[in-house]
Amino acid sequence: MADEIKTMKNIKFNLQSEIHKNVPLAVVTFQEGEDLRWARSARSFPAAVLKTAREDGFRGNKGDCSILRVPGQIPAERLILSSAGKVDEADLHQLRTLAAVVAKRVSQAKLKSFSFLLPDESGTCPEQIQAVTEGILLGLYQFKRYKSQESSEDSLSEVFIVVPQKESAECRQALQYGQSFAEAVRFTRDLVNEPPSRKVPETIGRTAQSLSGKHVKVRVFHKKQLAQMKMNALLGVNRGSAHPPVLVHMHYKPACACQKRLALIGKGVTFDSGGLSLKPSASMMTMKYDMAGAATVLGIFKALSVLRPPVEVHGIAPLTENMPGPDAYKPGDVVKASNGKTIEVLNTDAEGRVLLADALSYASKLSVDEIIDVATLTGAAVVALGKSYCALMSDQEDMVQMVMRSSEKAGEKVWRLPLEPAYRDHIKSHVADIKNIGNSGEAGTIIGGLFLKEFVGDKRWAHLDMAAMGWGDTASELSVPGATGAMVRTLLHYIVG
Ligand code: BES
Ligand code: ZN
Ligand code: ZN
Repeated sequence: MADEIKTMKNIKFNLQSEIHKNVPLAVVTFQEGEDLRWARSARSFPAAVLKTAREDGFRGNKGDCSILRVPGQIPAERLILSSAGKVDEADLHQLRTLAAVVAKRVSQAKLKSFSFLLPDESGTCPEQIQAVTEGILLGLYQFKRYKSQESSEDSLSEVFIVVPQKESAECRQALQYGQSFAEAVRFTRDLVNEPPSRKVPETIGRTAQSLSGKHVKVRVFHKKQLAQMKMNALLGVNRGSAHPPVLVHMHYKPACACQKRLALIGKGVTFDSGGLSLKPSASMMTMKYDMAGAATVLGIFKALSVLRPPVEVHGIAPLTENMPGPDAYKPGDVVKASNGKTIEVLNTDAEGRVLLADALSYASKLSVDEIIDVATLTGAAVVALGKSYCALMSDQEDMVQMVMRSSEKAGEKVWRLPLEPAYRDHIKSHVADIKNIGNSGEAGTIIGGLFLKEFVGDKRWAHLDMAAMGWGDTASELSVPGATGAMVRTLLHYIVG
């Protein structure tokens, strides 16, 4: 992964109010009984267009997409129909998804450009511009770096988003947001999809360093410094690995007065074998994605230097492998985190919370108003909520509300779990201040949250357990199998407000 990561698709996006005759025109359609109507202006299609659509097998069921030749019938010679189903089900996320479906069809058909007519049924114009832009860029994402045969060139090079009125500053900003948000997700996906031996901690440290710039300062702490900083929890997890750990600290400071100061922490286990509490092979198969939290934070920083929101953001990523090498930390070992608390490690596979103990202690000493950590922390999160939800834990009602609102904007699902104080007893240790596991089969995700809470001091804090969402075994409209880049856009919405 020494070579630079290129994620930005070279697609030119334009906003305009007229329709180019020679450019295929994508429109969203709605079902109205047997009838089909196109979004915007409640118009029915000319009968000839409808006939061609029917002949092409377009039924107008949700998600259907057809490319038709309709010379002389409408303002463009080719029409791309994409169906949103019933009009009352239309929302922004569906629009984002449809844009992805259209982009993929256009790409398969080897077309070079298309126009996308915004429907006025689902959301305001700037929101729609952002959703469509994200949909196109996320839908076309592929990870082909290790394919020797296929070329990664996409045919699509230009998109015209057709807006109702003359373009405004708000619309232009929405386009910028859409591109930056999607680019951040693509960057995160690339990092997570990278094979584990090609993204050891120091390599990711260099990737983080490459994000430094005028508004972003990046520091990478190496093993010796980590020892001086008394990060013995992170160092403890690292003991079984042949590769030294690092702690990345990125800092974005806005030029103008800032509204809020936030620390984002991402779990960065570049491969989780479980350590001596070794995982079974099937569970280990995808454990290169155990650094998805760290990759999320890096992706966000990639966007921050472009978006420059009036919020100060610290991005912190503790990075290590969790391996069972000869000097590996052992069940029964006690490690002392940098805030002085001792942790009895009874299962070396519950390593995320151990290294986050140091990262959270570090963040709690910064001048920040809020801390949010994002981590592939527990398999129990998959058991509790399935693959569609990210678990959220926080005692700060306003932070919960804001994360929820941000996740709705992003079209990503978040569900709150309680930080039940009664369960704190489960992590009482006989020999240390705290132990790293609770009772088997009991509220594993909440226990993870309660453990982390011990290391945030009195800071306002929220915890996102993204173990379930960070990886997808099957493709969806917006992603291919593998890394999803989930929570990048939710957290970007959280930051930009
Ligand atoms: N990285 C795993 C959590 C995980 C599991 C992420 C499945 C994604 C998919 C974490 O380090 C872990 O192994 N947690 C243990 C905790 C347990 C030993 C208390 C788990 O979930 O089994
Ligand atoms: Zn683990
Ligand atoms: Zn892990």
